[in-house]
Amino acid sequence: MIGWLIILVTFLGYLYLKHVYSYWNRKGVPGPKPTFFFGNIGLTFLRKKSMGEIFTDIYRQYEDHPFVGVYRAATPCLIIKDPDFIKDVTVKHFKCFENNDVEVPEHKNPLIGRNPFVSNDAEWKKLRSQLTGAFTSGKMKSLFPIVNEIGQEFVEYLNKQIAQSKETSIDCRSEMGKFTLQNVANFSVGIDAKAFEDEDGDFKFIANNFITPGWGDFTTNFIFILPYWFNLFKIEVFNKAVDLKTLSIVEECLKYRQASNITRYDVLNHLQNQSKDFNLIEIASGVSALIMDGYDTSASVLTYVIYQLSINEEIQSKLRNEIEEKLNDCEDKMTYEVVQDMKYLDSCIMETLRLHPIFLTLGKRCNNSYTYTTSEDSSFKKMSVTVEPGTTVIIPVTGLHTDPKYFEKPDEFNPDRFLNNVEIPKYVYMPFGEGPRACLGRQFGLLQLKIALVYLVKNFQLRLSEESDKELKIEPWHFIKAPVGKIKINLKKI
Ligand code: HEM
Repeated sequence: MIGWLIILVTFLGYLYLKHVYSYWNRKGVPGPKPTFFFGNIGLTFLRKKSMGEIFTDIYRQYEDHPFVGVYRAATPCLIIKDPDFIKDVTVKHFKCFENNDVEVPEHKNPLIGRNPFVSNDAEWKKLRSQLTGAFTSGKMKSLFPIVNEIGQEFVEYLNKQIAQSKETSIDCRSEMGKFTLQNVANFSVGIDAKAFEDEDGDFKFIANNFITPGWGDFTTNFIFILPYWFNLFKIEVFNKAVDLKTLSIVEECLKYRQASNITRYDVLNHLQNQSKDFNLIEIASGVSALIMDGYDTSASVLTYVIYQLSINEEIQSKLRNEIEEKLNDCEDKMTYEVVQDMKYLDSCIMETLRLHPIFLTLGKRCNNSYTYTTSEDSSFKKMSVTVEPGTTVIIPVTGLHTDPKYFEKPDEFNPDRFLNNVEIPKYVYMPFGEGPRACLGRQFGLLQLKIALVYLVKNFQLRLSEESDKELKIEPWHFIKAPVGKIKINLKKI
């Protein structure tokens, strides 16, 4: 009897999956053949390729198609390639796609679950508007002296490592993480994270323990692919201890400020001023969002810029010349405006973000049926598709950034392509996303990167160490783009 039951369940399961995997065929949407259970991302399950890389390969295979149907495990998703389609999703018909393709239940992680990136609908709108005022250009200008001071401390810290030898080799990702952690701690609650010191601190704990110990990168990657399994097996992805630690830091800071009548500009102060009715959780979740979204992202981008400069000596020298020239002009009194005026520095960062966007793809979930039809003057095949509510559309950021149709010799690191106001076509370059849901911390992220690079390039010759891996591979299970192995950089004092 049990044997028959197993056969029946297996047969029904087979029929169900067969139906699921015919979804795009039934809609007349082209796409690669899926395999049972894994869809088109079997290599990600095997930890051989990240989902972003697989979708980039598919982007390239379907050259003239405006969209391609794929399966993420057993979930049909649509890769959208036509910039007009991307514009509709991110801006014109944003109402149909306003939610990201991620979810962290608030009842499980009260702080991380209230990060705008993982929030949806009215809650997202509320959280985003609470934080927006903290990131205006005026606020960034007033933050400049603090980030600048941290830049100077960073150089002093690296100089100490060099001390006698005049040259040292650093683990780039870990050292850049110290700089960005020191910044986010200061900008969020005005605390010195002691990132350049050996002792462990609360902020170091938060930065290193977002994910529940034991699960590693598996959970951050697969929570978005298999959310139902995670709920079914009650797997905790985000570490509750991090929420508790953040809550206690914020509570202490609030008490201290009240007792000593201190006011300083940071996110804590911004949120306090927003509404007297905010409770501790509401304030702490804003602080948590800043740490979570601002630390790892900026450290990864900074690592990739330094990597590119260290293997392109001519570009590094050209950047050094610009930095020296601009600093000479202001007699070494660096200001916000002086940094903003370093155009080549800006293009080095933009070009790095083209080759190494931290999100290889962006996922947006449809909540209102929407129909796309290729426009008459488009170079894409004439096609039409209706995206149903619940379906995820995937913006293939890396595919677009490396498409020779938009970027000549796309594999070359060439910052000049961003110079002289050259117009990059819209909706094909989007390292910070586009539209109302684009990165909230873009200005702060860029400010950190620019200051770090000014100090590093001015003070040190950067060269890729022999100890580094010859090929830059990325971790297939990491949520944002992260290099596998170490990027070791030799720093030689100038
Ligand atoms: C250079 C570094 C950074 C890069 C490349 C970057 C990139 C991105 C991208 C691609 C998104 C998703 C956009 C979308 O869904 O369309 C995003 C979202 C976000 N980023 Fe950043 N980011 C960076 C730094 C930061 C920093 C420093 C902060 C805060 C301090 C921050 C806060 C956020 C927030 C809150 C969101 C969610 C926005 C929303 O869903 O409304 N980011 N970022």
